[in-house]
Amino acid sequence: MEEKKREEITEEEEAEVEIWKYVFGFVNMAVVKCAIELGIAEAIENHGSSMTISELSSTLNCAPPHLHRIMRFLVHLRFFKEKPSAHGLIAYQQTPLSRRLMRHGENSMAAFILLESSQVMLAPWHCLSTRVLANGTSAFDTAHGKDVWVFAAADEGHNKLINDAMACDARVAVPAIVKGCPEVFNGVETLVDVGGGDGTTLSILAKAFPWIRGISFDLPHVVKVAEKFHGVEYVGGDMFHFVPQADAALIKWVLHDWGDDECIQILKKCREAISKEKGKVLIFEAIVEEDEGDNKFKSVRLMLDMVMMAHTNEGKERTLKEWDYILRQSGFSRYNIKPIHAVQSLIEAFP
Ligand SMILES: C[S@@+](CC[C@H](N)C(=O)[O-])C[C@H]1O[C@@H](n2cnc3c(N)ncnc32)[C@H](O)[C@@H]1O
Repeated sequence: MEEKKREEITEEEEAEVEIWKYVFGFVNMAVVKCAIELGIAEAIENHGSSMTISELSSTLNCAPPHLHRIMRFLVHLRFFKEKPSAHGLIAYQQTPLSRRLMRHGENSMAAFILLESSQVMLAPWHCLSTRVLANGTSAFDTAHGKDVWVFAAADEGHNKLINDAMACDARVAVPAIVKGCPEVFNGVETLVDVGGGDGTTLSILAKAFPWIRGISFDLPHVVKVAEKFHGVEYVGGDMFHFVPQADAALIKWVLHDWGDDECIQILKKCREAISKEKGKVLIFEAIVEEDEGDNKFKSVRLMLDMVMMAHTNEGKERTLKEWDYILRQSGFSRYNIKPIHAVQSLIEAFP
């Protein structure tokens, strides 16, 4: 009895503190966005060593008292480290996490944060409960009157935000494929990347596997403004109607934007496009764990599932059982799963 009471008190006490995370849940994202906009990480990187508040303030043209409070919060979040400077003042030092806030650089996630914290992407979150209700409508559509791809086609700035954000993930995740399962590219001479964005994925693969000729296939408004990487061919079109022919097709972070029936339509088009002999479709997507195991990417995968609910009509993250259903319905005879060090896994599916 005594024991139970003690447990209840502890849970009560924990809840009393825990709930504030949700009252002010948005603060972390907003402050990190502010740090990117100000260029705090770049300033310290360019300086070459840690910087005091007065050095940072004069470099960034900021008010020292406000910048000090921002830095105190970012140190608390472990973005920057504090260390004593030569004159007994506190100086701020980069960490691997703060380097990810730099707009350029191999591990940069700045563009992704700027996309997710944009007003366009935040508005649908206010409509999430509307989505979940029986017969609920798409949260993005409710907020903007059209789906995310139609929105991006009509809004150059948002189109760029999406393409730059996707390139961030490609720069982090594609090297994990190169390292984790290079064998899947043996014998693949032509590779079409379906929904390939600005071509970053193929540019990394073509560098790692120089025998590959890459075709980046995406909607015309994406292809039109893509930076055009050397050695990557660009084709504009609609994957529901046609996919360019190649030995193999790669489809990264596209199927999670769509419902099961749409995924089956897309995968059938991919299957039609690939070589019957050496063909395969490489699906690069998250696989949500069904058990309670503690995979370090599990919470990212579950958050992504919520993002799909907010930003797409029928998109979702899938369990292995759900991927199995889609692959069988699309006519694939067998598949392998290559777990790699990333949020996504590689599913190698054969016709
Ligand atoms: C989440 S992004 C992924 C981009 C890229 N594969 C990556 O992971 O870096 C989804 C991509 O699908 C493209 N897309 C959406 N609808 C499409 C369609 N009907 N045909 C071709 N591409 C489409 C979008 O333009 C966007 O580039």
